[in-house]
Amino acid sequence: MTGELTVGLLGAGMVAGVHAHAYRGSPGVRLVAVADPVPGKAERIADQHGAVVVADLVALLGLGVDVIDICTPPTTHADATIAALEAGRHVLCEKPVTRTMEEARRVLAVAAHAPGLLSIGQVARFGPDHRAAYDLATSGEIGRVRLLTHSTTSSLPGWSEGGWLADPASSGGPLLDQAVHSFDYARWVIGSPAVRVHCMAADSGVGPATYALSTVRYENGAIAHIECSWAHPASRGFRLAVEIVGTEGWVSWDYDHLMGGVMHLREGPAEWFDVLGDREFTHELRAFFDAVRAGGPAPVPAQEGVESLRTALAALESARTGRTVDLTTWEVP
Ligand SMILES: NC(=O)c1ccc[n+]([C@@H]2O[C@H](COP(=O)([O-])OP(=O)(O)OC[C@H]3O[C@@H](n4cnc5c(N)ncnc54)[C@H](O)[C@@H]3O)[C@@H](O)[C@H]2O)c1
Repeated sequence: MTGELTVGLLGAGMVAGVHAHAYRGSPGVRLVAVADPVPGKAERIADQHGAVVVADLVALLGLGVDVIDICTPPTTHADATIAALEAGRHVLCEKPVTRTMEEARRVLAVAAHAPGLLSIGQVARFGPDHRAAYDLATSGEIGRVRLLTHSTTSSLPGWSEGGWLADPASSGGPLLDQAVHSFDYARWVIGSPAVRVHCMAADSGVGPATYALSTVRYENGAIAHIECSWAHPASRGFRLAVEIVGTEGWVSWDYDHLMGGVMHLREGPAEWFDVLGDREFTHELRAFFDAVRAGGPAPVPAQEGVESLRTALAALESARTGRTVDLTTWEVP
């Protein structure tokens, strides 16, 4: 496919604003329309980017756009993805691919026969730091990867519409919403399926299982240690620490505050921005649009998004029961 790609943006919250900004890094891509049920939100993004406001997904599809970019809460992902794929559109859906495995199976069944591409927004794969470490690890420079630790700790994000992030039924808490990035990145770097997960979690003032430590065993014998938290003080910011240990060396990096800045204006909603210029989202979206033009494959295939979802759900199950979950046999309750 050559020529201009047109995009309809579903949802006009925090991450939708970041996506809309990041389209600018993809020449030949035009945001045509935005839909969000909360008055004023779609207008704000549409005005900034020369797009129009429409009521909902049906209206977006009616415009004949090439791509639907789904930036709504996870409980809405399955129905929106399926409707857009069935309408013949290419779809970029934010992580996690869905909220439940039942929804994920429905998405996979439709995606398998859909003419359009479906890619999942596992954006950690596109951060320059994460990508460089992936390249190092998979080039063999540090030997065979045996251990990966990935830690992301912050306070409870305060921006979500109606507070859905604070509701475990909607978001899955940090083990799903945040650590799904870590589970996805670890599996991608290690290059082998997760086979066992054990997780311990603590409750905090902001909700159940809001601080969690998971260990994952992979089929090739490597292990990962995933830490996530929404229970840290807001003043500390967002902290990331990663270590990848191979048989011939190791690579590590960490940073404070780099992932997200939040601007709180006296009037209007809080606005999230990436202090380095939406770098990972720009790469993610460019990779997606390039894949659409090339006729595939999807940069993050739905099946891989589903594996990461399943690992995160298994960690939640382990935290709840105190037992290790065997992913080779686990049937999600
Ligand atoms: N990749 C990342 O690092 C990253 C970061 C933040 C959020 N996310 C993901 O992006 C998605 C959105 O998160 P957010 O932080 O932007 O949340 P948000 O609450 O800021 O925005 C979600 C928006 O979707 C709208 N919405 C809800 N149902 C809708 C529907 N049926 N049709 C149209 N709009 C609808 C809401 O009104 C809201 O404005 C989630 O899946 C989240 O996990 C990913």
